[in-house]
Amino acid sequence: MASTSVVGLQWGDEAKGKIVDLLSFDHHIVVRYNGGANAGHTIVRDGKTYKLSLLPTGVLSPHLQAVIGNGVVVNPVRFLEEVKNLRDAGIPVGENLIVSNHAHLIFPYHGEEERVIEQGAASAIGTTGRGIGPCYQDKVSRSNGIRVGDLLHPEYLRERLRVIVPRKNLILKALSRDAKHFEPDALCDEYLGYAETMRPHIQDSVALLHQAIKQGKRILFEGAQGSLLDVDHGTYPYVTSSNTSTTGIWSGSGVPAKYLTRNIGVIKAYTSRVGKGPFPTELDDGPTGIGETIRKIGREYGTVTGRPRRCGWLDLVALRHTAMLGGIDEVTIMLLDVLSALDELKICTAYEQDRQRLDDYPGDAFLLERCKPVYETLPGWKTDISAVRKPGDLPGNARRYVDRIAELLQLPVSIVSVGPDRVQTILMR
Ligand code: GDP
Ligand code: IMO
Ligand code: MG
Repeated sequence: MASTSVVGLQWGDEAKGKIVDLLSFDHHIVVRYNGGANAGHTIVRDGKTYKLSLLPTGVLSPHLQAVIGNGVVVNPVRFLEEVKNLRDAGIPVGENLIVSNHAHLIFPYHGEEERVIEQGAASAIGTTGRGIGPCYQDKVSRSNGIRVGDLLHPEYLRERLRVIVPRKNLILKALSRDAKHFEPDALCDEYLGYAETMRPHIQDSVALLHQAIKQGKRILFEGAQGSLLDVDHGTYPYVTSSNTSTTGIWSGSGVPAKYLTRNIGVIKAYTSRVGKGPFPTELDDGPTGIGETIRKIGREYGTVTGRPRRCGWLDLVALRHTAMLGGIDEVTIMLLDVLSALDELKICTAYEQDRQRLDDYPGDAFLLERCKPVYETLPGWKTDISAVRKPGDLPGNARRYVDRIAELLQLPVSIVSVGPDRVQTILMR
């Protein structure tokens, strides 16, 4: 039994979607185990572009079963919208798409709670505004959580909403006078409407996955967000509300880690971050600076919110930390082509904090704020590499950059990506 995980080792948007798509041929099932529609995965195949937020990227390959695991938070409106968009684009989506009965449901009051807490607050995280944090809060609170399976029990759902919604209204009013008010029965009727369309997809995903394991099927776990956004191990509090690393797979899908035989860490050839929080290697160097050059060439604007992504040099201190945490076996280096315009490249190999050298990643955002990167400089290659398909055809300096990353991480690089399309891929081994 061989299962694979694909996780981002930075702050998200490492092009995990492209790697999942590339690996789909070799697996039977693809599973999302964390996050929700805060993710934005763009896949380009045969000149067509697909964007997925909540559904696993693997749903683009109809031979796969695509599972939304229990660790995901599900907004039914987004779910149905994405299914419709795929069908409109000619992708068949049927009972191969499964959503766990134990995944939690996002309600409109979650988005409202997030809005009133985030808006204008000094403590704002810079979230995607998709209700992710408040929904996970309700899951952990137990008294406020509602799960996908509850949609199939109308009386129970109504009972729960009649208790929870008045409580939500009280909290919302206390937080902001202009907060929206919600009616439990109206919400219940709305969600029971979604339930009818979702019904064929709702299943006990844990039983399904273990059955598949017994049959020797190969599972591909598709991480959302990046490991530095992990609620336990990331740059807290500037993180998302789930375990984004491989650490989330066991709890978010019910599949024990012992079945994972290949853990792939996806990294960009540089670093990007959307939202607030420390970013030691950020290139905040103005409209004519390198940061803006990378943003323009890499089209670094958020898929979900359209916000410009903050860009900076590759950070090996952070990568060593997230690779260790995720038990990573190999890395894939994405968007290498974006760096082709630069004269030279920097890699952060250590931090300096209060004149002391730090080789390990500080566990707290306020400590990371005080870290200055220590750089090593490498020459650029100044050649278009987007048509390269074999390792031997990469310019010497591009190869040197890739090899240096492997050396510093002490991990093999299995894939180098030189463009968004599926075919713009170099298999290194
Ligand atoms: P994910 O959230 O990790 O799946 O990544 P996103 O889809 O949010 O962001 C990656 C972006 O880079 C997408 O727009 C991809 O189409 C694009 N992309 C993927 N690989 C490459 C590459 O090698 N070069 C370039 N230029 N773009 C890429
Ligand atoms: P993919 O899967 C990049 C960031 C948000 C914000 C923080 C918390 O495409 O890599 P949230 O809405 O989750 O409560 O926001 O996390 N964030 C992402 N950044 N890529 C993502 O997903 C992200 N999902 C959340 O910008 O800083
Ligand atoms: Mg993304």
